[in-house]
Amino acid sequence: MAIDPVIETGDSMPAINILDCPKKMFRWTRQQQVNGDLVGVVPTMGALHEGHLSLVEAARTRCEKVVVTIFVNPTQFGPNEDYERYPRTLQKDVGLLSDLGVDCVFAPSKEDMYPQGSSTTVAPPAVATMLEGECRPEHFGGVCTIVLKLLQIIPADLACFGQKDFQQALVIRNMVRDLNLPTEVAICPIKREPDGLAMSSRNVYLDAGERKRALSLVQALRQVPEAIGQGIKDTGLIETRMKEFLRPFVDRIDYAVVVDSETLECLEAVERTVVGLIAAYIGKTRLFDNCVVSVAGETDLLIESNH
Ligand code: PAF
Repeated sequence: MAIDPVIETGDSMPAINILDCPKKMFRWTRQQQVNGDLVGVVPTMGALHEGHLSLVEAARTRCEKVVVTIFVNPTQFGPNEDYERYPRTLQKDVGLLSDLGVDCVFAPSKEDMYPQGSSTTVAPPAVATMLEGECRPEHFGGVCTIVLKLLQIIPADLACFGQKDFQQALVIRNMVRDLNLPTEVAICPIKREPDGLAMSSRNVYLDAGERKRALSLVQALRQVPEAIGQGIKDTGLIETRMKEFLRPFVDRIDYAVVVDSETLECLEAVERTVVGLIAAYIGKTRLFDNCVVSVAGETDLLIESNH
């Protein structure tokens, strides 16, 4: 979609820069850093919602300049996934970002990011192999490749990712560590609708009945702190509770697990901090959600204080 390279945002706000050229984006980033400003980046695929905007705010608290990238990355979608129908709302996204005072939007084309003949890819770290890695074998290779490219183009001081995609956040954090990238990775809390549904660009696919059924993910996750709080340590038992809760509402469960929150490895018993992770289909829409729970049953699933 064609869009003005600079959008005026009224008297009090400076104009937002919109760049699509990787070289110009790199020079812009370096210029801010030479001027003494810290640069924060929020990589997105657009179709922005409050969850993304909270990442922008998190970047803003730590950095003088904030860049948001908008690129629907083809290499992270499987052959039968929703690449073609993924919502593309560039004009609206840019409006939201300029209202928030974002300094720069990087919205490259497919050809900018994957020039003709490009064939180099990133082999993802070990934490990519389970769960999503089993269900979607190509996915994290595509995510790591695009995030590395974005962090080459925008060598930001801080990059903010959402905890909603928990495994993705760990994969990226480990890749950044393993490849000695200079950018710090921040993993920011999940934004939820007032009833608890985790915000996601894919929620727009849900019809009214599906939207109601989608709540079962967060409700099933509540079983995790509840069970641990009751002294149940056996992860198998807790997983069974989650699945039994989910089954009447969802059309397919890809996984509903309680695993180590750092490595995502299976645990027989809850002996350290765990994460409950669910991926399930509501109709044709694949949704995920998660919550981190300590051995004492303390959790980040605090819906009331999260909106
Ligand atoms: O989480 C997303 O929106 C994407 O996976 C990301 C990190 C922007 C890479 O395309």
